[in-house]
Amino acid sequence: MPVLNTPFIIKKMDIKNRFLRSATVESKADIDGFVTDDLLELYYHLAVGGAGMLVTGAAAVEPAGKGFAQQICVFDDKFLPGLNRLARIVHKYGNGCKCAAQIFHQGIAGYAISYGAPGRGFTLRDIRPDDITATVKAFGLAARRIKDAGFDAVAVHGAHGYLLNQFLCPATNNRVDRWGGSLENRMRFTLEVYSAIRDQVGDGFPVLWKMNTSDYIEGGNEIEQYARVAATLAKMGVDLIELTGGVEKQAKLRARLSKEAGEHEAYFYWAINAMKEAVAGTKTALAMTGGIRSLPAMEGLLKKGVDLIGICRPLICEPDLPNRLLNSPDKRQSKCTSCNKCLFHIARQPLKCLEFDPFRSVLASVSR
Ligand SMILES: Cc1cc2nc3c(=O)[nH]c(=O)nc-3n(C[C@H](O)[C@H](O)[C@H](O)COP(=O)(O)O)c2cc1C
Repeated sequence: MPVLNTPFIIKKMDIKNRFLRSATVESKADIDGFVTDDLLELYYHLAVGGAGMLVTGAAAVEPAGKGFAQQICVFDDKFLPGLNRLARIVHKYGNGCKCAAQIFHQGIAGYAISYGAPGRGFTLRDIRPDDITATVKAFGLAARRIKDAGFDAVAVHGAHGYLLNQFLCPATNNRVDRWGGSLENRMRFTLEVYSAIRDQVGDGFPVLWKMNTSDYIEGGNEIEQYARVAATLAKMGVDLIELTGGVEKQAKLRARLSKEAGEHEAYFYWAINAMKEAVAGTKTALAMTGGIRSLPAMEGLLKKGVDLIGICRPLICEPDLPNRLLNSPDKRQSKCTSCNKCLFHIARQPLKCLEFDPFRSVLASVSR
């Protein structure tokens, strides 16, 4: 049996295989952030596709935290019924598939709009301490809603240049109070958010954290700093850290890193040892996401000590990739070309693969 097919347990959550659908903004919620039938249909296909665990696209914890017009929102109890339907669809049709929802705040740009000061001049330093405290609380309450909605876990978007990452990164954190300056201070917001979440969901509920291995910008954090953040979160009890990287120009960055990674495919491969060392002696599991496309690369990562294999774009063009690789004779690698058209598309339109949209072949098969 391929290692990929072996279960993995986090607390009492039994994940049936090592495929983690990494969070993917769907742009399929309605304009107010409510779950729609279109969104549910996507999760039905992902659930039957065979992944061990799905993480939803980023869901906004505050109105100002919303970064995409049609992303899921979780800043009020009014979103609970839709979220509950999503969790129920995954559980009903996913043959044991587990489901986490990712919570998120887009960061400085959102505060700037809510302060009536959009534009380049607004920085992290301009956020009032009371508002920082309110956002910490909002993360906690959002996590509680995710639990109440019936999800198996809550996932936090701590990467890719959004709010949590902006506090950590010295290039964006220009505060001079207890949230800025030294790494200990820059980490404070992350740790406060973690504690607020844990207070709301309790010790038994899995909390997953997506974080960078490097910011890949001048003046940003490198692996040394992120290993310290990971070690601290692990000691505090975070259940899984999903490794990623970068804060800006992601399409360009991922294309370059992919070339550099060569046959490893996983372009954060180089960070595994440092991160394993960081979480050693704790119960924190590791996932890795970014560029992973073939069975040999996935198995190689598991051998290196990664617990779950994160994939995002391959599941946009082929939601049943896990079933195909695990349970069919067709072991060819994902057909995703990493073109990133999906990434640009979600800024305005619902998520889809623009290279291999399954419905296109259906259309082509019926003459005009
Ligand atoms: C369309 C699209 C939407 C994404 N949305 C999210 C998101 O909501 N949260 C997140 O943490 N990462 C998001 N990402 C990043 C992916 O989860 C993943 O880290 C990245 O695409 C690299 O993995 P891949 O090579 O398997 O696609 C998104 C990426 C794409 C292409």
